[in-house]
Amino acid sequence: MLRRFFIPESVAVIGASKHPDKLGFKILKNVVDGGYKGKVYPVNPSAEGDILNLKSYKSISEIPTPPDLAIIVIPARFVPDVAEECGKKGVKGLIVISAGFKEAGEEGKKREEALKEIVKKYGMRMIGPNCLGVIDVVNSLNASFAFDMPPKGKISFITQSGALGTAVLDWAAKEDIGLSKFVSFGNMADVSETDLIADFGEDPETSVILLYMEGVKDGKKFIETARKVALKKPIIMVKSGKSTAGSKAVSSHTGSLAGSDNAYNAALKQSGVIRANSVQELFDYAMAFSCQPVPQGKRVAVVTNAGGPAVMATDAIEAEGLTPAIISEKTKTSLREFLSPAANVHNPVDILGDALADTYGKAMDLVLSEDGVDAVVAILTPQVVTQIPESAEKIADVAHRHKKPVVASFMGGKRIEDGVKVLMKKGIPNYPFPERAVSSIKAMVNYKEWKEKKKGEIKRFDTDRAKVEKIIENIKKSGRKTAGDIEGREILASYGIKTVESFLAKNISECKKYFQKLNCPVVMKLVSPDILHKTEAGGVKVGLSSVKDVETAFKEIMASAKSYKKDAVIEGIQLQPLIQGGTEVIIGVSKDPQFGHLLMFGLGGIYVELLKDVSFRVIPVTDVDAGEMIEEIKTAKMLKGFRNISERDTGAIKDVLLRISQLCVDFPEIEEMDINPLMVLEKGKGVIAVDARFLF
Ligand SMILES: Nc1ncnc2c1ncn2[C@@H]1O[C@H](COP(=O)(O)OP(=O)(O)OP(=O)(O)O)[C@@H](O)[C@H]1O
Ligand SMILES: [Mg+2]
Repeated sequence: MLRRFFIPESVAVIGASKHPDKLGFKILKNVVDGGYKGKVYPVNPSAEGDILNLKSYKSISEIPTPPDLAIIVIPARFVPDVAEECGKKGVKGLIVISAGFKEAGEEGKKREEALKEIVKKYGMRMIGPNCLGVIDVVNSLNASFAFDMPPKGKISFITQSGALGTAVLDWAAKEDIGLSKFVSFGNMADVSETDLIADFGEDPETSVILLYMEGVKDGKKFIETARKVALKKPIIMVKSGKSTAGSKAVSSHTGSLAGSDNAYNAALKQSGVIRANSVQELFDYAMAFSCQPVPQGKRVAVVTNAGGPAVMATDAIEAEGLTPAIISEKTKTSLREFLSPAANVHNPVDILGDALADTYGKAMDLVLSEDGVDAVVAILTPQVVTQIPESAEKIADVAHRHKKPVVASFMGGKRIEDGVKVLMKKGIPNYPFPERAVSSIKAMVNYKEWKEKKKGEIKRFDTDRAKVEKIIENIKKSGRKTAGDIEGREILASYGIKTVESFLAKNISECKKYFQKLNCPVVMKLVSPDILHKTEAGGVKVGLSSVKDVETAFKEIMASAKSYKKDAVIEGIQLQPLIQGGTEVIIGVSKDPQFGHLLMFGLGGIYVELLKDVSFRVIPVTDVDAGEMIEEIKTAKMLKGFRNISERDTGAIKDVLLRISQLCVDFPEIEEMDINPLMVLEKGKGVIAVDARFLF
């Protein structure tokens, strides 16, 4: 528990200063002005007498009783010694504001390591270093150098960027958005975002958790913790830095498609964390979640005094995958009783430009009472007779009588200001544009669906693990890092995945022999450790159905392999039966630095990189995850039966996804792998892995 940071009985400010332009003064002043009720001890070796009417101390050891919390704001080089002193004294928590650690080169890095050791040695916990500090609005503790205390509310905000934090606090004050706790954790040397999520999960004063992150500390722990907390309260996160990470050379299809942003998207999906694409979205969603109930379904109605914006709202409802609500005849009749004949009683309910506050109230009441409505967007534009704050009052009062979410979009600038103030005061989030109102409802719908859905289970299959161990051992012994087609298929087969029958021929006569043995149209493929992608080297010939075809193919493959790479070692040519009537999909794995193995599924074949129609999940995946991966791709419909293609065996795809997940859990040394293509046959007929590749 991190209670020591939020409700300490006493606080020391180490580096407290009498000079108003020093950080040490500002922080002490914040603690005092914030209205903190516990004891405060200013500490400064050169301090004499009082600072801000508080008795000051030359060192932490001079303080009569050990303070629960020490806020440290002194030059970095002194921090480790002071931390040591704090430990000896029995301080429980440190907030290290000072910069000059990991972010500041080699020396700083060493200093941070030393500091971490000290914190651990004394069983303390530390936020920072290099941070803005902590604010607990509920307990009136402002242990930061932010300007002032934000208004009190139920949102807790965790930020990796202190500078963004100050902007957010200032904005929250202006918009009257209440916060419960605010933490800028800087370098995350000890307390991480995951610790804070776990703590806020238990905090009765927090109903929504917001995160601004550049990267999580420990991906697996993050997923595990967030998943538990998200069942209790919404977690909304902005992850900045979406570009694909690094210049790591990748050899598999999956490696080239993965990228860290896909890993984040997958991890957040699996843990129920709502991803916001910008800080604006973060607060848009936070407002809706913190003051409105989550909708029971996704049928959305619009009540408006303006036609155009209502159309925009309706477009957004459809674009977001929500359902425009249908207004029943009964409600329509009741609406007609007081609306002018020109009004529209269908959804969007247009009460027209001359609607007064009472009309808003009555219309909202009827629409909210409608069984077929789960959420309402109230739109208003300032027209000559519009009663702006009065309408806001009515909308808010009516909304509170129902258990359904209401969000508003009062559009305009100066004229609507008073109305917006009323809305926000009364807990109706207002968005300057209807699309943002609708997208916030969508976020709530998504959250509810995630919370209620079955999470599934991680299956274990009986497999020949020892055989895979042996194969990998051999690969390592021979100094290789990759397994091509042949070993790759052996690994798959050991894990119960059906693979294509295949024979390796060394020369033309062996080719002919195997062709006769297979007794069907065949595919011939080059086998060379020096050629990664066979197709590019002219190394794959499909649908060969005569001895002559086989002979020609052999010659052609050999010739093009030579011209592709002159000195390539050629081990031979594989002959396989031609799998007919299969849909080509890809299943692959790459390794993400934060989250570990990332499983990919998509439409396969030689155009995967071009089509990029793929989905991702962090391994291990549950059966439900695997099912969703298949559903999620844009071309999922093709697998369900499309035009002349019959329904495919998606159950068998799911099985392979789960087996690959298990394979990666069993063999962490797998860096990348892909099966491309996995041929998916008609429903009930299974799948066949045709080509596989591993990197260790
Ligand atoms: N046994 C087979 N039956 C039917 N089609 C096949 C078979 N083997 C290969 N193909 C076809 O040839 C294509 C390329 O084959 P394969 O994936 O083995 O070669 P590759 O060069 O490794 O391709 P890539 O680098 O794109 O993965 C497959 O996508 C598939 O369309
Ligand atoms: Mg392939």
